[in-house]
Amino acid sequence: MISTIRWKDLGTPARVSERTVDLEVDGIAVTVPEGTSVLRAAAEAGISIPKLCATDSLEPFGSCRLCLVEIEGRKGYPASCTTPVAEGMVVHTQTTALAKLRRGVMELYISDHPLDCLTCAANGNCELQDMAGAVGLREVRYGYEGENHLNQAKDTSNPYFTFDPSKCIVCSRCVRACEETQGTFALTIDGRGFASMVSPGQKEDFMDSECVSCGACVQACPTATLMEKSVIDQGQPEHSVITTCAYCGVGCSFRAEMKGNDVVRMIPHKDGKANRGHSCVKGRFAFGYATHPDRITTPMIRAKITDPWKAVSWEEAIGYAASEFKRIQAQHGRGAVGGITSSRCTNEETYLVQKLVRAAFGNNNVDTCARVCHSPTGYGLKTTLGESAGTQAFDSVMKADVIIIIGANPTDGHPVFASRLKRRIREGAKLVVADPRTIDLVDGPHVTASYHLKLRPGTNVALVNSLAHVILSEGLEAADFVAERCDAKDYAKWREFIMQDRNSPEALEADTGVPADHVRGAARLFATGGNGAIYYGLGVTEHSQGSTMVMGIANLAMATGNIGREGVGVNPLRGQNNVQGACDMGSFPHELPGYRHVSDGVTRALFESAWGVKLEPEPGLRIPNMLDAALDGSFRGIYIEGEDIAQSDPDTQHVTAALEAMECVVVQDLFLNETAKFAHVFLPGSSFLEKNGTFTNAERRISPVRKVTPPLAGKEDWEVTVMLAEALGYPMPYKHPSEIMDEIARLTPTFHGVSYAKLNALGSIQWPCNDQAPEGTPTMHIDEFVRGKGKFVITEYVPTEERTSRKFPLILTTGRILSQYNVGAQTRRTANSMWHEEDRLEIHPSDAETRGIREGDWVGIRSRAGETVLRAKVTERMQPGVVYTTFHFPESGANVITTDNSDWATNCPEYKVTAVQVEPVTQPSEWQRRFREFSETQADLLAKRDSVGA
Ligand code: SF4
Ligand code: SF4
Ligand code: SF4
Ligand code: FES
Repeated sequence: MISTIRWKDLGTPARVSERTVDLEVDGIAVTVPEGTSVLRAAAEAGISIPKLCATDSLEPFGSCRLCLVEIEGRKGYPASCTTPVAEGMVVHTQTTALAKLRRGVMELYISDHPLDCLTCAANGNCELQDMAGAVGLREVRYGYEGENHLNQAKDTSNPYFTFDPSKCIVCSRCVRACEETQGTFALTIDGRGFASMVSPGQKEDFMDSECVSCGACVQACPTATLMEKSVIDQGQPEHSVITTCAYCGVGCSFRAEMKGNDVVRMIPHKDGKANRGHSCVKGRFAFGYATHPDRITTPMIRAKITDPWKAVSWEEAIGYAASEFKRIQAQHGRGAVGGITSSRCTNEETYLVQKLVRAAFGNNNVDTCARVCHSPTGYGLKTTLGESAGTQAFDSVMKADVIIIIGANPTDGHPVFASRLKRRIREGAKLVVADPRTIDLVDGPHVTASYHLKLRPGTNVALVNSLAHVILSEGLEAADFVAERCDAKDYAKWREFIMQDRNSPEALEADTGVPADHVRGAARLFATGGNGAIYYGLGVTEHSQGSTMVMGIANLAMATGNIGREGVGVNPLRGQNNVQGACDMGSFPHELPGYRHVSDGVTRALFESAWGVKLEPEPGLRIPNMLDAALDGSFRGIYIEGEDIAQSDPDTQHVTAALEAMECVVVQDLFLNETAKFAHVFLPGSSFLEKNGTFTNAERRISPVRKVTPPLAGKEDWEVTVMLAEALGYPMPYKHPSEIMDEIARLTPTFHGVSYAKLNALGSIQWPCNDQAPEGTPTMHIDEFVRGKGKFVITEYVPTEERTSRKFPLILTTGRILSQYNVGAQTRRTANSMWHEEDRLEIHPSDAETRGIREGDWVGIRSRAGETVLRAKVTERMQPGVVYTTFHFPESGANVITTDNSDWATNCPEYKVTAVQVEPVTQPSEWQRRFREFSETQADLLAKRDSVGA
């Protein structure tokens, strides 16, 4: 999938219409959908009309006057970008008069533009340069002595791109990109006429403005005015490879633009079906971690975690790990070892790790980090709808009329989806936000939520029940849909339950803290406002009733008939890039790939025959069980690929004690992360740029990950797992990840039609992909639910056991921020830290005042599990009684405070509700002091490592 750098820009966006229009451009007959511009119609016929202010990702603006054409029967020279086609139109794009007009326009532009093309970073990839050539500009009659913009100062404040106003032609593409594509409205055209110029915010630097550094303006700029610093440093790229972002569950498609083996820039792929040519700051700019000096590229071993690391060959490291696992199993039984897969890894890698555990270790002790994020989604949606996955494609949001966002913060966590959502809201769709914090979507530029249900953390189920109560008690349910599509008995039971007065918004107001009339208004809007779509995140799942809430959401969608077509649905916004895939690939202790229970004999027989081993019929250990078993001595060895449980999992001190108790901890990762500090074997990982495979995003979309540069450590991650399996005596003779996918497809009904050849042909595929849906399934449950009849489940609200008290009067809830990602291992090693260099504790002014806490003060946060210290951010985003932090920095110790409470069905930790006390302090917590000492010791032991063969 190597391609050239430039892609064809058709000038204006595609239009969708059932009616087509026939016209003639320069004697060529063209047929296009009604509403198409003349500029685009010409481009589709292969005719290039000069243009500057138009580009096919933005609505036409008509300011540069370069795209003028002659249309028979019409006076003058209309701009082809803003002129829609008409039946029978006859267009001429190249006449003597047009050539003269265009040269005149270009002459004016060039007369106020530096003539430094040869030393300009855009040389060879500049639309202004191209257009000067296209219109045949040979001289500029106006001198440079007059008034001009050539001495304007450059803004280099953004770490990733520069703004050089001396090169600006005021085409407004950047301003429109920020508005239309990103939805941030950070840029304006300041001044009028000749004095007009682009300005971030109120004539601020980019860094001080509202800009979120998505880069859409840089991509849209036809000149070198907005330019990536990487291109300025490295020069124009020469080839590109299409691949998939390794950060969040949106799964944006990118062109990695390369010079040799170096990535020069990442450009969101226009044909990417998840992102439609857009990206956020992480995917576009934060890829520098892949070549960060902290990368460890040599395998290492040590007998004890107090020993210095020894750098060894791959063979020695793998041989040592395998012998340790075998020794432990011989001494303590087959179940004394296990593995953890990561949602950051590819499907193929994840599949191999669970296969290794099941076939080579001979047990089912395999779990994934989805355990700590979206395992309730799998359970809840499988139970109610029949499939453990979201129901829609992201495109679907453009057909939604009422959108509920529950426990998700898309502008930070899923930014590219958030941009689509904001666009839809600007078009008129209504928004309901259910969140304890005032997230940006509640009241942002040109986006205001109709209702913000600012509930207390831990009361989601009460809220969803009260929404359903209003809908049923006011007769707003979709009775026909329910009668036709859902199980009647279950519905009747649920109906009787939900109609009880105790589920009314008035009865639950004291629990949720949400005024009953707001709940009633939101419920009415959702039930009667047209297509209703629900999007949710970890604010739903990471609770003691996470699975109950997912089922409550499914109940709500079914009761209102909002399933089975575009514009509706139940949409889990997955945190990491491959959460969906890690679950699909069977990295759960109770499920084989495709969500089939290990106790199912037919499924087991299928895998036993393919893998040539006998499989255990009993579920294995979940992550929390593995940790508990480590502490009681029955679990002693673990293979962890791409996961950092010492930072990401709850109750850090419990996790690290368990790791310390094990005899063989094998970590495969890019960096010596917090977990690797407790490891005995370190196997260097490969970044997403260094390997082939696939990721599956929140839409069930399987997208290719392509190797754009050789692995720094010499091996792709899947090759390392293959080596380990072989050393354990279980050969895995794969030569390429495509063969692993072929095996997955053979053994997994929803993947039967998936292959690398098809992925290359289609770009990406939403599973199920099989004989019934050879090109995949954008919308699920269209005619019937996967389980047959939709199942309503009674969702009794049970308050969490984590209660506030006099000692712990506040509730701590956690989340993420745009510029950082998860444990921060990647983003902390990029310039993204300029936006967020530490985790802070957000606290409401009244809670701060009563404790004598001011902005920036150090505050101690104490829970029943532990204590840590952060700096305070006093903000009215919070509600009184609730504090909030992110968890991107290990030294913050956010998970030292979180408890081991978890979802009743899946053990997903209750990160979102921890009772705490907060008070001003002057020094780090005891845990932070120990953490620092331990980290320094481990850094020292790493520095002392031997060289290979020494
Ligand atoms: S910065 Fe670039 S896109 Fe924006 S107005 Fe200037 S030339 Fe056009
Ligand atoms: S980088 Fe994105 S947010 Fe910032 S000004 Fe450009 S388009 Fe707007
Ligand atoms: S939205 Fe997510 S997938 Fe897309 S570029 Fe940003 S981090 Fe990557
Ligand atoms: S491209 Fe049409 S007016 Fe600029």
